[in-house]
Amino acid sequence: MLSLEILNSLPFKRYEALSDFLAFIGVYDDERRREVWEGTILKYRDAINGGVVVELGAGFGIFSEMALALGAKKVYAVERNPYAYNVLKGRLGRYRNVRVVKKDALKFVPLEEVDVLIHDFYGPLLYDESLYVLDNLPFTPRVVIPNGGRLKMGLLNLEDIGDRTVEEDVLEQLKGVLVADLFEINRRPEVEENTVATWKFGQGLKVEDSINIGEQLGNLLLFYLEVMHNGKVICSSFECTNWPLVWTPRSGDVFSIRFRWGGDFARVDFEWLM
Ligand SMILES: C[S@@+](CC[C@H](N)C(=O)[O-])C[C@H]1O[C@@H](n2cnc3c(N)ncnc32)[C@H](O)[C@@H]1O
Repeated sequence: MLSLEILNSLPFKRYEALSDFLAFIGVYDDERRREVWEGTILKYRDAINGGVVVELGAGFGIFSEMALALGAKKVYAVERNPYAYNVLKGRLGRYRNVRVVKKDALKFVPLEEVDVLIHDFYGPLLYDESLYVLDNLPFTPRVVIPNGGRLKMGLLNLEDIGDRTVEEDVLEQLKGVLVADLFEINRRPEVEENTVATWKFGQGLKVEDSINIGEQLGNLLLFYLEVMHNGKVICSSFECTNWPLVWTPRSGDVFSIRFRWGGDFARVDFEWLM
């Protein structure tokens, strides 16, 4: 994925909205994610045909367009970022049965019953983006795509990564910090029972109070996302480049991770307890 940065000074609000816009463009580099979403949406072609579809956080609206092509009677494409909204309006505004809505999804109330809701509100740590919105919807869709997810963890050794820049003295500075990317990690940690948090539409988020890794070996703690639908993993941070692997140097045997809504995105609190 390209790294997109704004280099000139801009008023803070504009800078923030443009940074989010640039970050979300990266979503479209991830071909695998697109395939998986399309495959899942196709399974609901009967519900979409003649039905009402909402895409929350519609971005450039590729799945709204797909719903239209599958015969949706009406599509609401809801987007709060002003720059993404401009693109969305330009691409989908011409369709008679599409409403392009510039609004925070939390405040969006459709006029009709919703057959299918499509979203991608997953963050690299599962709940660190906008899944909270789906737990607080002012309406109840019949189908949500996708409707679940897991945050998993495992341990690796720095030597397994083979990065020459990040050595112990560098890691020391990053204790207690969750870092996305920085180096390539292709190895999957070999642990089975390693779920930190689960989310299901209608049931919300469940997070373990504390996680004990005392019996596991490794000096890097790694987190990864699994996107799920109807209880099955449909993609993960290992296959879908949109979600970076997240790591932190191990500085204990027991940690906790918490999520709280910040009004725009969910914030993450991470702490070593022992
Ligand atoms: C990861 S992109 C997904 C775009 C598109 N749904 C797709 O899957 O291709 C997430 C989009 O949701 C938007 N978004 C995030 N939180 C939102 C909220 N509370 N209300 C409306 N849009 C939101 C972001 O601005 C971004 O465009």
